[in-house]
Amino acid sequence: MDIYQVAIRPLLFDLVKTDPEWLHQQTIRSLSWLSQTDIHPAASWVNRSLQKSLCLKDSRLEQTLFGLQFPNPLGLAAGFDKDGVAASIWSSLGFGFAELGTVTFIAQPGNPRPRLFRLPMDKAALNRMGFNNNGAAAMSARLAKSQQDLGWSIPIGINLGKSKVTPLEAAAEDYLNSFRLLKELGDYFVVNVSSPNTPGLRSLQDAAMLSAILDLLQYENQYQKPIFVKIAPDLEWEAIADIISLAKTYKLAGIIATNTTISREGLQTQIISQTGKSPQEEAGGISGAPLRDRSTEVIRFIWQQTQGQIPIIGVGGIFSTEDAWEKITAGASLIQVYTGWIYQGPMMVRQILKGLLSKLEENNLNSICEAVGLEAKIPK
Ligand SMILES: Cc1cc2nc3c(=O)[nH]c(=O)nc-3n(C[C@H](O)[C@H](O)[C@H](O)COP(=O)(O)O)c2cc1C
Repeated sequence: MDIYQVAIRPLLFDLVKTDPEWLHQQTIRSLSWLSQTDIHPAASWVNRSLQKSLCLKDSRLEQTLFGLQFPNPLGLAAGFDKDGVAASIWSSLGFGFAELGTVTFIAQPGNPRPRLFRLPMDKAALNRMGFNNNGAAAMSARLAKSQQDLGWSIPIGINLGKSKVTPLEAAAEDYLNSFRLLKELGDYFVVNVSSPNTPGLRSLQDAAMLSAILDLLQYENQYQKPIFVKIAPDLEWEAIADIISLAKTYKLAGIIATNTTISREGLQTQIISQTGKSPQEEAGGISGAPLRDRSTEVIRFIWQQTQGQIPIIGVGGIFSTEDAWEKITAGASLIQVYTGWIYQGPMMVRQILKGLLSKLEENNLNSICEAVGLEAKIPK
């Protein structure tokens, strides 16, 4: 337990009962300020102090994947920095990569508030943000400036979604429009077809719909930038097999598994305090601990179906070294966190990385890439 878990989290979550979205906005605002080290000299100093206490560098954690160099396998998941306002700070917080977005071609306000809820009894969150963001053009302008002024020392992914006002039949052009504006600025791209909070979006995971999107994107991309598809944990095995097949056809860099779940199974939370309703009555996706096992299962399935030929970014319910190790040995080359980071605090990244090094030693492995899929290889 560190100072965040003992004092800061109880103060913010329980005592002051801060609204989760307000707290998120304040955090993003502070991180955005901190990332402007060229303008604020004090920010440089804080930045260096953060690096000292939160980063862990070790060659055993490094990997080169799809042409990109990752200093460690633990990244920030999409949804936290939706507009890319803090792109250059994520490396100072210890992350090995960061995924910005989801960004849509047309700026949009998202769903009405409240739309983000903590479920502390379940170590979970429920959100129905609905892709609130300032649009691809604004992100493009911001990232171009930040890349020029500051640069970033870790791979930066950009997660693309469909604009709410764009009909599903025109989805492919909508993704393409965003990609055109951003393609020089991201190191990898993600086609997000798995958020439960844009009506009909998940139907784009259907093979015919998805293939139309990937076709247009790869035609524009000419296989230059790595492109991923991010999938929902609620898909049937057959649908996941179809997506694996498309990933091969369109030479995708990999699959991100998984987004939040629409399932409410096994939740302890009876009533959400902000609304007085049960999680079953509230729309949105569940993230955090209740998602952990299902997302690991999806990762293992993809790894086994492909014998590790398609890189997987594993995400869902990672709070500890054990959770991270489970995802990696199930087949994830890289992993991401969102909800766990909120609950555990900023020391979490370093703690997990330290723990992964111990795991490598326990298992007589020289590098993290040797652990990928280790447990999925054993017939069940
Ligand atoms: C508040 C919130 C907003 C999110 N927004 C996005 C998003 O815009 N795009 C996306 O692909 N995933 C989004 N996610 C899903 C996360 O990227 C991740 O896939 C999911 O939360 C599971 O990881 P976790 O259990 O570590 O949170 C969001 C999650 C949360 C909690």
